Amino acid sequence: MARLPASIPTLATARLRLRPFIAADAAAVTALAGDAEVSRYLLHVPHPYPAGLAEEWIATHRDAWTQGQGASWAITRIPDGALLGTASLRWVRRHDHAELGYWLGRAHWGHGFAFEAAACAVDFAFETLACARVFAQHLGGNERSAKVLTRLGMTAEGVRRGHIKKAGAYHDTYQFGVLRDEYVAQRSAS
Ligand SMILES: CC(C)(COP(=O)(O)OP(=O)(O)OC[C@H]1O[C@@H](n2cnc3c(N)ncnc32)[C@H](O)[C@@H]1OP(=O)(O)O)[C@@H](O)C(=O)NCCC(=O)NCCS
Repeated sequence: MARLPASIPTLATARLRLRPFIAADAAAVTALAGDAEVSRYLLHVPHPYPAGLAEEWIATHRDAWTQGQGASWAITRIPDGALLGTASLRWVRRHDHAELGYWLGRAHWGHGFAFEAAACAVDFAFETLACARVFAQHLGGNERSAKVLTRLGMTAEGVRRGHIKKAGAYHDTYQFGVLRDEYVAQRSAS
C-alpha cells in the first residue's frame, strides 16, 4: 500500500464531493441522522439522537485515520456544498479488508447519491488502501441498502440470524462482499 496522506483526502465523483467532516458539520449531522427513518437501520446511531453526539463522533475521525483504522467522509453535493450524508470505511490491515458504511438524509434518497458515494469509497479501498476485500452488512428489511450493495457488484454472502440487538430487539444481518479480482473484472467490463 502506498503511504497514505496525513489527513483524510477529499474525493470527487460526477455529482458529489466526499470531504472530511469539520466540527461545524455537527448541526447538520444531528438534523439528518436525527430522523428516525435514517437511524432505523443504523447500528451506531441512537434515536432520539442526543445533543453532543455528532461533535463527539466527528472528533473521533482524525485518530481513526492516523491510527490506520478508518475514514469517514461527509457526502456533499456539487455545486452548493450541501451535506447529504456519510460514507465510511473501517479497515483491518492484517486482513486487507474494509467494511463500507453509509447513510443519507431522507430528503436525498432516490437520486443515486448513496450508490455514487459508496462506489467512490469502494474505489478508494481497492485502489488506495490496496484492500483484497470490501464488505458491508445491512439489517433485515433494509431493501434500499441491499439494492445499493447489489449495484456495487457485491455478492450476497449470507445471513447472520439475530446477530444484532437494537432498541431491545434482535435483528438478522445480511452480509455482502466483493473481492479484488471481481472488482477488477467489473472495472474492465464497464
Ligand atoms: C440506504 C440508503 C443510503 C439508500 O439510499 P437510496 O437513495 O435508496 O440509494 P441511492 O442513492 O443509490 O439511490 C438509488 C435510487 O435512486 C434512483 N436514482 C435516481 N437517479 C439515479 C442516478 N442518477 N443513479 C442511480 N440511481 C438513481 C434509483 O433508481 C434508485 O431508486 P429505487 O430505489 O426506487 O430503485 C438510504 O435509504 C439511507 O440512508 N437509509 C438509512 C440509513 C441506512 O440504512 N444506511 C445503510 C445501512 S446498511
